[in-house]
Amino acid sequence: MKRESLPTAAKRDSVNSLKQAVSKIEGWLTDEEGKLLYKLAKSCTGKGVIVEIGSYKGRSTIWLAEGSKAGNRVKVYAIDPHTGSTEHRRMYGKVWTFPEFVRNIKMRGLDDIVVPIVKTSEDAERCWNQKPVELLWIDGAHDYEMVKLDVELWFSHLVWGGWIAFHDSIVYPGPRKVVEELLKGNYLADVGLVDSITFGRKVKSIGWRDRLRNRYILWVKMRMVEYEKLFVSFLKLTFDTIVRLHLPDFLKRTVQKFSMAIDSREHGLPLYEIYYHSPLGRYGLFQRLKGFQGMF
Ligand SMILES: C[S@@+](CC[C@H](N)C(=O)[O-])C[C@H]1O[C@@H](n2cnc3c(N)ncnc32)[C@H](O)[C@@H]1O
Repeated sequence: MKRESLPTAAKRDSVNSLKQAVSKIEGWLTDEEGKLLYKLAKSCTGKGVIVEIGSYKGRSTIWLAEGSKAGNRVKVYAIDPHTGSTEHRRMYGKVWTFPEFVRNIKMRGLDDIVVPIVKTSEDAERCWNQKPVELLWIDGAHDYEMVKLDVELWFSHLVWGGWIAFHDSIVYPGPRKVVEELLKGNYLADVGLVDSITFGRKVKSIGWRDRLRNRYILWVKMRMVEYEKLFVSFLKLTFDTIVRLHLPDFLKRTVQKFSMAIDSREHGLPLYEIYYHSPLGRYGLFQRLKGFQGMF
């Protein structure tokens, strides 16, 4: 059996304990997405800072700050008005996440790396002291106009060769459209997908390899959306058929609940695992797209 080296085992253990700690914080980031943020933050050299748009209770902030701590201790500017996005306010009413955010950051001992900015990304940019940005993580408001505004405001602060990453860029229409526009443009190289994140490096102009890769990624993203729609239609049809059968009431009620849960998901189901384990994934195409192999 192959023996794991001590540093590799130690690294794996520390990431596992980080995964466990972060899983207790409410949020939507998956472990794979967290690991990607960790790796991107760790790779920052210090020629710019890390900017996060949308921190909520600190799940992604912690992955970023821990990665930065393992690297060059680049500061993480965590921008969020902490009053929630439209969908949070609809779900929970009035939202105020700042105290919980601060508690979570303190609990991990990351308050020397994380600089909270309790403002919208627009207001924060207005007061920005022109520090260059080496990693820009966008997970704030999800409407198309707002995500576009985030890019318009912050992309110019990103250094050449710096990373930009978007959450919810597969099934959420807003981030997806902005990412598709960027992929059709001339400035994103080394693009990859990890679960719902699309990330890439800002360059002055892309060569034919990146152009082809970006087109391929666009194609993959469109297929993902189509598969997702097909899968949801299939589930709905199955549930509706079951409900019409002669079955005990409690069973019908349960199936109806599932059916309603699907309807109430505004932006579909996160089915990345299905895509990643589909024949496309198995033939290695997704694996390659996922980039950053052998991170831990
Ligand atoms: C999806 S949550 C972020 C989740 C967080 N990244 C995580 O991993 O747990 C979106 C956050 O964006 C914030 N937000 C909404 N509009 C914003 C804006 N214009 N600028 C910055 N943040 C915004 C909300 O307050 C909310 O906390």
